[in-house]
Amino acid sequence: MRASFFLATAMACALAGGAIAASGDPTAWKNRALSADARADLLVKAMTEDEKLVVITGFFGVQQDWNKFRHPEARLQSAGFVPGIPRLGFTPQWQSDAGSGVATQGEATPALERTVLPSGILTASSWDPGTSYAGGQMVGAEARASGFNVQLAGGVNLDRDPGNGRNFEYAGEDPLLAGMMVGAFMRGIQANGIVTTVKHYALNNQETGRSTINVLIDEGAARTSDLLAFQFAIEQGDPGSVMCSYNLVNGKHACQNDWLLNTVLKRDWGYRGYVMSDWGAAHDTIENALGGLDQETGVSTPENYVWRDKLKAAIAKGTVPIAVIDDKVRRIARALIASGAVDRPVALAPIDFAAHAAVAQAAAENGIVLLKNDRDILPLARTAKRIAVIGGHADVGVLTGGGSAQVYAPGGNAVRGLGPKNWPGPVVYAKSSPLVALRTERPDAAIAFDAGTDLAAAAAAAKTADVAIVFVTQWTAESLDFPLTLPDDQDALIAAVAAANANTIVVLETGGAVTMPWIDGVRGVVQAWYPGSRGGPAIARVLTGAVNPSGHLPITFPLSADQFPRAVIPGKGLPEKQIFDVRYTEGAAIGYKWFDRNRTRPLFPFGHGLSYGKSSLDGLQARVVGKDLHVGFRVRNTGKVAGKYLGQVYVAPAAANWEAPKRLAGFRKLTLSPGQSEAASLVIDPRLLATWDQSRHQWHVAPGRYTVTLASSAADAGRRVTVTLPERWLPVGSLAPQR
Ligand code: BGC
Repeated sequence: MRASFFLATAMACALAGGAIAASGDPTAWKNRALSADARADLLVKAMTEDEKLVVITGFFGVQQDWNKFRHPEARLQSAGFVPGIPRLGFTPQWQSDAGSGVATQGEATPALERTVLPSGILTASSWDPGTSYAGGQMVGAEARASGFNVQLAGGVNLDRDPGNGRNFEYAGEDPLLAGMMVGAFMRGIQANGIVTTVKHYALNNQETGRSTINVLIDEGAARTSDLLAFQFAIEQGDPGSVMCSYNLVNGKHACQNDWLLNTVLKRDWGYRGYVMSDWGAAHDTIENALGGLDQETGVSTPENYVWRDKLKAAIAKGTVPIAVIDDKVRRIARALIASGAVDRPVALAPIDFAAHAAVAQAAAENGIVLLKNDRDILPLARTAKRIAVIGGHADVGVLTGGGSAQVYAPGGNAVRGLGPKNWPGPVVYAKSSPLVALRTERPDAAIAFDAGTDLAAAAAAAKTADVAIVFVTQWTAESLDFPLTLPDDQDALIAAVAAANANTIVVLETGGAVTMPWIDGVRGVVQAWYPGSRGGPAIARVLTGAVNPSGHLPITFPLSADQFPRAVIPGKGLPEKQIFDVRYTEGAAIGYKWFDRNRTRPLFPFGHGLSYGKSSLDGLQARVVGKDLHVGFRVRNTGKVAGKYLGQVYVAPAAANWEAPKRLAGFRKLTLSPGQSEAASLVIDPRLLATWDQSRHQWHVAPGRYTVTLASSAADAGRRVTVTLPERWLPVGSLAPQR
C-alpha cells in the first residue's frame, strides 16, 4: 500500500503536467556552453509546476523495520532520494551520509561496506586542510562509485557542549579551525563532481531535545561563533547545499527561520546553493516555503510530508508565489549542474579499497594526538619486550561513531551485540586491530592481550609486563548526549592497571573530551578518537614511533564538566514535544575562550599536542599591508625526529575586550626534517580582528594596538608582538577565501 502511494503520486506528477504549464524548450538547458546559472534558468522555464514540486521533495532511502517505507528508486539503505524529471533528462538526487564515508542506515551487507575515514574531530586534530581535502576526495569518490550525487557531509557545528553526542562528526570548538578544515573537506568531496552539504545550520549543539530546544543567542555572538564557522566553511568549500537543523533559534525552527536562511545565509553571505531540511525538520508548509527552505527531505511515511499537494494548494491560493518555488528549483538545479553531477552522471563503479584505506590511515596518523608523555615513555622503547595490551576490544578493532554517519568498514562489525539494538546502535567496531598491528610493528616483543573486563586479571597481566597499554572507549552517537566520564568502569580499569605497572599508557577512542581522574598515575596518553578503517595500524605506528605524532586538540579537555557553561546538557526528561529555551549566556566564548575568560585551567588546552621531536617557533612578525594584517613566523625542527610541526597564531586587542581574551587567527603545519626550518606567512581574516556592529550591520575593526601571539596551544604564553591596526568596516558578505 505504501509503495503504491509513491507510484501513484509519481505517475500523477509525470502525467498530469502542472497547473502552470512549462514554457521553455525542454533541451535548451542541456547546452554545456552556458553557465550553470543560465542552464538552471532554462530548466526552470521548461518545467511544469508539478515537476518543480518533485524536485523540491525528498524521501527516505532506508528500508528497515523501524522504517518500512522508502521510495522505490532510492538506493537501498541510503539517507534519501529525490526523483528526477525524465521528460527533461534531469537527474534524480541520490543522497548519502556523511563525513566518515558512505554510510548505511543500519547494518551493511558486504556489498555496502565502505572505507571509514576517521571521525571529523580527528581530521580537525590534524590542523592540516590538506589532510581534510584528501579525506573528502576519498569519501566523494566512494559516494560517486556507490551511485550517490549528494553527499550529506560537512558537519561544522561548534563543540559548545562537550557532551554533545555528535561532536565526533564535527571539527572542534573554534570557528576558524572548524571552517577551514570542513571547507577543505567539502572541496575534496565536490572534486568528484557531486554536491556536498554543510550542516547542521545552525546552533544544533546538542542532541537532547534536538527538535525542541530553542537556542537563544544574541546576533553578534552568533555571527562571531557558530555562524562564522559556517561562513568560513562555505567560503572555503563552496558546498552546493546547506542542511538546516532540527532545533529552534531565537524562537523559530531553523528550517523556517527567515533570519537564518533568507537574511544571513542568502542575503548577507550571498549563498547561491540550496537549503535542504534535516530529515523531517520541516514542519510548516508555508513558513518553510517562505522562510528560506528549498528542499524538504526525509519524507518517511505517506502522511508526514509538509509540501507536495499542500504546497500546491498554497501556490494555487497565492499564499506562496510561484517565483518562490522557481528560486528553490533554480538553486537545486544550479548546484547539481555546477558540481558536475548532471553532466557526469553518477554510476556504480568498483572502489579501490586499498588506496582508500591508505587515505584513511594517513588521516589517522596526522590527527592522533599525543596528550601526555611523561619521561618519554613513548615511543615504546626497544627494551620493552613484554607488552600488555588491555581492553577496548583492541584485539579485533577500533570504535566508530553511531547514527546516520555510521559507516561499516570492510569486514563488517568486529564486535557484535553492543549498544542499542536499534538506531543509532549498534556499537560498531571497524575490523582493524591495534593489537595485531602492534605485533606486526614489534615482532621482537611478546605482546599479550587481556580483555580488561576483570580488574584483577588486567592488573595481573600488567604486573608482569614492561609496559601496559590500556585501550578505553566511549561510544557516542547521533540523537544521544553523553557524560564526560568513561563508561563501564574503565576509569577503575586504568587505575588498577596503573597501580600494577608504573609504565602505563592509555589510548583513548572517544568522540570528544573525557575526564581523566587517573591522569597522574599513567605515563602516556594518546587520543585516537575514532580512527577509521585503518585505525589499528595508525595507533600502532604512533605508539612505536614509526609515525611522529602531530595532532593537536581542536577542543579543550576539562578537569571536570562543571568547568563549562553548562555542566549538564539541558532538556533531559522533558515531554517529547515540549519546546524549551536554552540561553547561550557564554555568547561567542566557546571552549578555550570560555576558559581564558574565566581564567580556568583545563586538563589539556585547545591546541595542545606533543611530538617525539623538538621544535621551536620564532621569527614572529606582524605588519599591516594595505589594511590587512600579515603575520610571519618560522617553525624549526630543533630535534632529531622528522615530522610535522604546527604554529598557532592568536590575536587580541591590547585595550578592549572581545568575547574572550584572544582568538585563534591562523595556523600552519609544516613537514620538517631534523635541523630544517621553514617560514610561514598568513594573512589574517579581518573578521577575526573585528566585532559585530549591530546598528551598522557590519564588522568593525577598532583602530588601535593588537597583540599577536605565536604559540603551541591556547594555554601557551608563546611569543608576542604588537601591531597597530587602522579602523576598518567590513561588509557582512563573503570575503575572498583564505587559502
Ligand atoms: C541527521 C543528518 C543526516 C540525515 C539523513 C538526520 O538524522 O541529523 O545529519 O544527514 O539524518 O540521514
